[in-house]
Amino acid sequence: MGTIYTIANQKGGVGKTTTVASLGAAFAEQGRHVLLVDLDPQAGLTISYGFNPDMLEKTVYHVLLEEEGITTVTIPTNLPGVDLLPANLDLAGAEAELIGEIGWDRTLAEALTDVIDAYDYILLDCPPTLGVLTTNGLVAAHVVIVPLQCEYLTLRAFKQLQKIIVKVQRKANPHLQTRILRTMYDSRTLHAREIFAEIAHAGGEQVLHTFIKRTIKFADATAGGEPILQYAKDSEAARAYRELAQEIEN
Ligand SMILES: Nc1ncnc2c1ncn2[C@@H]1O[C@H](COP(=O)(O)OP(=O)(O)OP(=O)(O)O)[C@@H](O)[C@H]1O
Ligand SMILES: [Mg+2]
Repeated sequence: MGTIYTIANQKGGVGKTTTVASLGAAFAEQGRHVLLVDLDPQAGLTISYGFNPDMLEKTVYHVLLEEEGITTVTIPTNLPGVDLLPANLDLAGAEAELIGEIGWDRTLAEALTDVIDAYDYILLDCPPTLGVLTTNGLVAAHVVIVPLQCEYLTLRAFKQLQKIIVKVQRKANPHLQTRILRTMYDSRTLHAREIFAEIAHAGGEQVLHTFIKRTIKFADATAGGEPILQYAKDSEAARAYRELAQEIEN
């Protein structure tokens, strides 16, 4: 049975999509079979793997509305071992349509049961909100990875997210574990070094040893429609995500 990781933080631009795209590529490099799920109507993950969301007829939206089975919507990517359940703007409608349904928060979890044995890892890319889609991600996951930028107010956003995580644990998914990933770390500034240490202190054992430094390489890779592990194979950034994959596997 595969392990489901959901990458969540309601704060925008903290590295969620980059982490899903890069970690997926890192697992695949190790010979694992990976499913990436785009849960963001903005479809950043879908785009980062080189697909045009507007050209896709069937997406995760149709899976959530139970109009399509998950295997018919999943597409292979250019990376061997990496499949994608894509998204486009249709997904924006799912929030309103799901909320009236019984068991709306388990919709994704149920859909994933059909494919969980076919993959080693399933990675969910949440949107920057605390709504229906992120909740579905938290209910479906074994582990939530929270990327935290090493910047002011980062812990404040995390505390808000933690309240939702606790609620999900209490009501729907008692075994959900939390891991914190420090991202966009710039060791040259005192401020970043202070926040880096503050996160380590506040997060304790939840904090992953691996952290991701700030580098322009990620923006370049996104523009190139490739994950960093392909775009800049030997870069420090690519190495950091390989290290993360290893840390998570252990
Ligand atoms: N370690 C990093 N250093 C520098 N830039 C980064 C880093 N990680 C990601 N980025 C860039 O920062 C931007 C935001 O990253 P990303 O899209 O992964 O964040 P996100 O949390 O998914 O955003 P959103 O909340 O909008 O979905 C992108 O342009 C990405 O290329
Ligand atoms: Mg994103």
